[in-house]
Parts: sequence; C-alpha cells; structure tokens
Amino acid sequence: MYDINLLKSDFTELFKKDSESVFFSPGRVNLIGEHTDYNGGNVFPCALTIGTYAVVAKRDDNKVLVHSLNFKELGVIEFSLDNMVYEKEHNWANYPKGVIKTFESHGFNIPNGFEIIFYGNIPNGSGLSSSASLEVLMGTILNESFSLNIDMVDIVKMCQEAENKFIGVNCGIMDQFAIGMGKEGCAILLDCNTLKYSYSKLNLDGYKIVIGNTNKKRGLTDSKYNERRSECEDALDKIQTVKNITALGELTEKEFEEVKDCIGDPIKAKRAKHAVYENQRTLKAVKALKENNLELFGKLMNYSHISLRDDYEVTGIELDTLVELAWETEGVIGSRMTGAGFGGCTVSIVKDECIDNFKQTIAVKYKERIGYEPDFYVVSISDGTRKLG
Ligand code: GLA
Repeated sequence: MYDINLLKSDFTELFKKDSESVFFSPGRVNLIGEHTDYNGGNVFPCALTIGTYAVVAKRDDNKVLVHSLNFKELGVIEFSLDNMVYEKEHNWANYPKGVIKTFESHGFNIPNGFEIIFYGNIPNGSGLSSSASLEVLMGTILNESFSLNIDMVDIVKMCQEAENKFIGVNCGIMDQFAIGMGKEGCAILLDCNTLKYSYSKLNLDGYKIVIGNTNKKRGLTDSKYNERRSECEDALDKIQTVKNITALGELTEKEFEEVKDCIGDPIKAKRAKHAVYENQRTLKAVKALKENNLELFGKLMNYSHISLRDDYEVTGIELDTLVELAWETEGVIGSRMTGAGFGGCTVSIVKDECIDNFKQTIAVKYKERIGYEPDFYVVSISDGTRKLG
C-alpha cells in the first residue's frame, strides 16, 4: 500500500495546515462481460488494490482547492461551490467538480469547501478506470465529511450521472459500481438491468490475475464508445418491433437468432450479437467458476475476446497482439481485452510459476511487432472505496 504519511506531509506543506482524513478508492478490472452494461446485461468485474488516495481538510468558506500529484504541473486548481461549471482548463478536476455538482442537483447540501490532495497509482489512460475511481472517491469524501448518509449504490449512480452529463461520456454503470461496491478476494456479478448483484469468491489457488497494458496512446476511445452504444440502441429499436423487450440483455442466444434478421444492417446485427452472446457467456463463466472449472472460465474469456475483436470491433492490433501472445504462452488459462477497448489493458489468468516467463517472452515479442513495450501488473482484489482514517 502507498505510504499515506507522505501524502499527509505534502498536504501540510502545500496548504499550511494539517489534513483531517484519508480516503482510498480502487481501480477495477473486468474479468468478463464487456460492453454489456449499457445493454442491460451482466458484468463480472472486481476492485483492485491499486487506486486513488485522497487527504482532505474542510474549509470555512465556499472554496474548493484540489491538487493531484499525478498532474503536479497543473498546480492547485481552485473553484467555488457557487460556480460549478465544466472548465476545460480545470482538466482532471472536472471529475470531482462534476460529482459535487451532481450531489447538489440531487438536493444534498455541501455546506462548505475543502482542500484535497489526490494521488493515484493506476496507470493513466490504461482503462483501469482511474476516472471512475476519482469520482467514487469524491462521492465518498462528500458523504463522510458532511454526514450525508447516502448508500454506496446511490453514490455510484450519481457518479455515473456525473460522468454522463458533466463529462459527456455515455458510460454504463459497471466501473463506478465495481469501484464503490468491491469486496476483497471477490468479483461482483452485476445485472446492469436490475442492479441485482452477488459476490463470487475467486478461488485462484496457484494462479494470479495479470493485467497487460498495451501502452497504446489514447485515441478516439470516447467517440467510438458512444458510436457502439448507439449502434446497439438502433438494433434494439428494430428488435422491439417484433419482440417485447427493454434491453438486449434480456435475450438468449436462441431468441436473438430468431429475431436478428429484422435488424437489417449487418454491422448493427454484429454489435447486437456480441451484446447478447457476451451476456450469456458471462453467466456461463460465473457458473464455471462456482464449479471450480477454471479451464472453462478461461476458455470463455478467450471467446469473449474473439467476439470483441470480430463482432464488436473494439480491439485493434495492440490488444489483439497482447492477447494472442498470451494464448500461446505456457500456463495461461485465459486472456482477453478488458474495459472499453481500442487500447488500454488485457486481463489474463496465469499459473504462478509461469508469470515471470509470461512477462518476459510476451514483452519481447510484443515489442518486435508493435515497436514499444507493454507493462504487466500482477494484481490483487480489494474492497471498494472507503475512509482509511
Ligand atoms: C468502459 C465503460 C463501462 C463499460 C466498459 C465496457 O469501461 O465505462 O461502463 O461499458 O467500458 O464493458
């Protein structure tokens, strides 16, 4: 764990006063169930021990002063609780700002301002949800500091709303939910249509979760993401003319095959096929895990990647290379892209004694093909966002 005392002394030096409380919010990795959340399907993510820390003190006035050790060059960013508008030059601080604004719009009173220093050890732009981690962190700070007594699920929903409306990214609820509701050693099976969820203990005896970062520079992720969303919405509209459903996640594979011709557009039909099959695959994977059938779980992870590559078309040469190299490496149970795609990270389940070889051989071959090296993180599963002291 990161040394919080360092953060506290940075706070005292910067704001010339002592901090009052410390918070932590994890990053997340999704094991299976990709691009299903906004299609009313199931996801199976978990919260990580890497994440975002915050040290906080309240002020007597209306000012909010925030600083991030990850963006030191931007200095202290200041805004007032009376003027909560998106400002481009406020950069990363628009995330906490959006959360404060959303809380206020739901009638929660934030009586005074505060100072915060943030520090995150989630690699930036890796697709492990550093932004959702920051949002749920801000929501939890408000909840605890001003005794708002809000349930975590409601904090999660407001953070998603902040991302949708204030930031303008039309994300589903998976990231904020995994981060807020995470549980040590467990993945969460979440039905995004009903928000019913259950925890599954990950019995990975002899295996670990290894995240591979393609290190691809972030490109058109947000616009492509929104495009996939509307392609699925269009497909749903068409299916609704022949079948009474509210989301693609309600269909079995067989039901989809019976109605798919009404979609018309072959691209949109492929997108909808992924959403339906991936949702069913997620349920099968969780069942396999419960039955201690890690082999099958891994195979389903691989099929998930293939569907994201061929039908949903959100992978790209970097993710495909990293995953295909993993498939041919000894000791790998399964490997797939994780998160929104187009870059970012892969998730693999790898046998303990094979991890060193996994990292070394894949790094060399990936560099040969792509031109630069990937990074690897062996991760553990943590509890959700919380006050540390
Ligand atoms: C991003 C979004 C999530 C989800 C994934 C894809 O991480 O924020 O809501 O849609 O992509 O599964």
